[in-house]
Amino acid sequence: MWCRLLLSLSVLFSFVHHGTAGVTSDYTRSVWPSVDIPLENEAFAVPKGSNAPQQVHITQGDYDGKAVIVSWVTPDEPGSSQVHYGLSDGNYEFKADGTVKNYTFYNYKSGYIHECLVDGLEYNTKYFYKIGDGDSARKFWFQTPPKIDPDSSYKFGIIGDLGQTFNSLSTIEHYKQSGGETVLFVGDLSYADRYQYHDVGVRWDTWGRFVEQVAAYQPWIWSAGNHEIEYFPYMGEVIPFRSYLQRYPTPYLASKSSSPLWYAIRRASAHIIVLSSYSPFVKYTPQWRWLAEEFKRVDRKKTPWLIVLMHAPIYNSNAAHFMEGESMRVAFESWFVKYKVDVVFAGHVHAYERSYRISNIHYNVSSGDPYPIPDKSAPVYITVGDGGNQEGLAGTFRDPQPDYSAFREASYGHSTLEIKNRTHALYHWNRNDDGKRVATDSFVLYNQYWGTSRRRRNLRKNHLSSVVLNKKGREQL
Ligand SMILES: *[C@@H]1O[C@H](CO)[C@@H](O)[C@H](O)[C@H]1NC(C)=O
Ligand SMILES: *[C@@H]1O[C@H](CO)[C@@H](O)[C@H](O)[C@H]1NC(C)=O
Ligand SMILES: *[C@@H]1O[C@H](CO)[C@@H](O)[C@H](O)[C@H]1NC(C)=O
Ligand SMILES: [Fe+2]
Repeated sequence: MWCRLLLSLSVLFSFVHHGTAGVTSDYTRSVWPSVDIPLENEAFAVPKGSNAPQQVHITQGDYDGKAVIVSWVTPDEPGSSQVHYGLSDGNYEFKADGTVKNYTFYNYKSGYIHECLVDGLEYNTKYFYKIGDGDSARKFWFQTPPKIDPDSSYKFGIIGDLGQTFNSLSTIEHYKQSGGETVLFVGDLSYADRYQYHDVGVRWDTWGRFVEQVAAYQPWIWSAGNHEIEYFPYMGEVIPFRSYLQRYPTPYLASKSSSPLWYAIRRASAHIIVLSSYSPFVKYTPQWRWLAEEFKRVDRKKTPWLIVLMHAPIYNSNAAHFMEGESMRVAFESWFVKYKVDVVFAGHVHAYERSYRISNIHYNVSSGDPYPIPDKSAPVYITVGDGGNQEGLAGTFRDPQPDYSAFREASYGHSTLEIKNRTHALYHWNRNDDGKRVATDSFVLYNQYWGTSRRRRNLRKNHLSSVVLNKKGREQL
């Protein structure tokens, strides 16, 4: 109790101390060791039964949310790739046929990886599904989203840089209480690339079993991080993203993408664009050309909420990974402003940070103000790289806090974005040291397309007010 009060005061004082820039939280968290959960821990338990399906996860399977891709691994033999599903538990009246494959990675041999598209689903419906054979079959369920409609409400979770430590487990346990219906995952899944040889594949398998408790029941919208690259010449493994692409399918063809690494989906009232920080994106590359077309397909009258996911943040005032997002900022920031993106979520930096609405598109090396300035058409940039992986927290923020940075803190946690209707969304960041559902940083996000007039009226009342850049801040930027 007293402890909580003192912590609140310290956050308050840090705000006062930093003046016009945002808050650098002084909160000191109790950090558990950043070591991976041991292999034999129950978090990685192999399901009972001979050749039982494991590592079950689902993702959206089409553009508009009427399909899911179900994926799982059988360890000993291929077995069935069918998904049996229906509208009540035990009554699986429909079935879909999938495919099975396996791969090697150095001397590791994967299990049999199944992938099955279940499509033609009804909106707003709970489906029960069954995979596997005989006594080893396993049962799960998922809920389809509401129809594409500007006022469809929906709650997204945002998780990044998760890994497989006890901190990761805490993040998962907090997320499970959040009411989130779909995870927007901002890259760096298993951190299996921190291992060598055979253990790389082993740690992808443990991670798959670890996240199944959530990922089998609601879609995770995947984006790739640097830990998915796995460029290992010493093992003869030099094709980027191999384990990731084998294991985590995405519905990229539905958005006319040519790669599973960048794509878009529409879900409820949101249009979500997934970018790859580690694939070519400069002018004329496939990703650049695709994004140019995808922005034209966005219809804010149908999906008011325009959300972009990437791994390396474009605005980051942490010492870790400083400026690594700069090349993508140069390539895409002007589009984010032109198309009035609501929010950009990134990971990579193992901390939490939120920006004001700012842009730096007026600067072009030859001329223009070189500092980010308040820009009502710009997105809010949020870094949620705080899932809890074995690399630990990025505890050093650059000092002073840049004026564009609204709130920053090095703690583990996750976020939620609860879309209410076409104008309002409630955003929360929950730190693992707090109770479940507690909002440590929160604000009302007004939609960039529908919410403008409302936002002006409420400018002074909430955190999204324009940033006043002072002289001192400028010199430090
Ligand atoms: C993949 O599965 C086939 C068929 O069971 C098997 O013959 C082959 O050895 C497997 N390959 C790997 C790399 O495990
Ligand atoms: C660079 O910025 C200046 C000032 O904003 C503008 O006048 C000029 O057209 C820009 N040049 C290019 C090549 O974008
Ligand atoms: C949208 O949601 C907000 C927050 O719940 C509410 O205050 C507002 O009245 C809603 N607007 C409409 C048009 O329903
Ligand atoms: Fe990363």
